[in-house]
Amino acid sequence: MRLNAWLARAGVASRRKSDELIKEGRVTVNGAPGQLNTVVQPTDEVSLDGAPLQKQQLAYVLLHKPAGVVTTASDPQGRPTVVGLVDHPARVVPVGRLDADTTGALLLTNDGDLAHRLAHPKYEVDKVYVAELWAQPTDGILRKLADGVRLPDDETKTARAQVRRISGSVVELTIHEGRNRQVKRMFESVGHRVKRLHRSSYGPLNVEGLEPGAWRELEPSEVELLRVPTPDSRERVREPGRARHRPA
Ligand code: URA
Repeated sequence: MRLNAWLARAGVASRRKSDELIKEGRVTVNGAPGQLNTVVQPTDEVSLDGAPLQKQQLAYVLLHKPAGVVTTASDPQGRPTVVGLVDHPARVVPVGRLDADTTGALLLTNDGDLAHRLAHPKYEVDKVYVAELWAQPTDGILRKLADGVRLPDDETKTARAQVRRISGSVVELTIHEGRNRQVKRMFESVGHRVKRLHRSSYGPLNVEGLEPGAWRELEPSEVELLRVPTPDSRERVREPGRARHRPA
């Protein structure tokens, strides 16, 4: 693992800040100054300012994101952030993003490799959204969304989606892409505006049993399902009995 990634996982700093620490000569690996291209082996001893560091365990957290919270580590406008909601000893960061007014399932982790893979459209993590619209869409509109639509300022059509009407103006949409504001823009492209948006599940994870603002650690079996996407991984699993953290 690259030294900056190792430092990030150890909870020292972000990868970018870790690069600065390395350039400043404050990081040593087995007593020798670390370089930006240093690769750390499991038996290596890494120190910062002469003090040995412990590698941090990988951590995986599912947050029920409430509305009004931004999906970043810090916000220039001073709004509350998802990272601030998750009081976890590991430095977990969100995988992908939800708009500030979107609620629902958000995965946070310090496992950079998994986060990177999950963010790739080819990985095809199903995301299920429940959108409440300002007006009732016709069945024809729902069929259009399912077939794929051209988004404003986007060259390619969206991939096929599963679309289901829950009630008059409430629609469930299952997509595996993660384009910016994709769901709202899909509806905009067919002349509808979203009043409320909720992500009920992310791959095998759903927010059942988690109130808005609460989070829990993933079960090892859930992490495995995220790592190895098979048709079975689409099953929604949530094992009971894990600690739940109430909203701060
Ligand atoms: N699509 C959106 O438009 N917004 C979100 O927050 C997530 C998906």
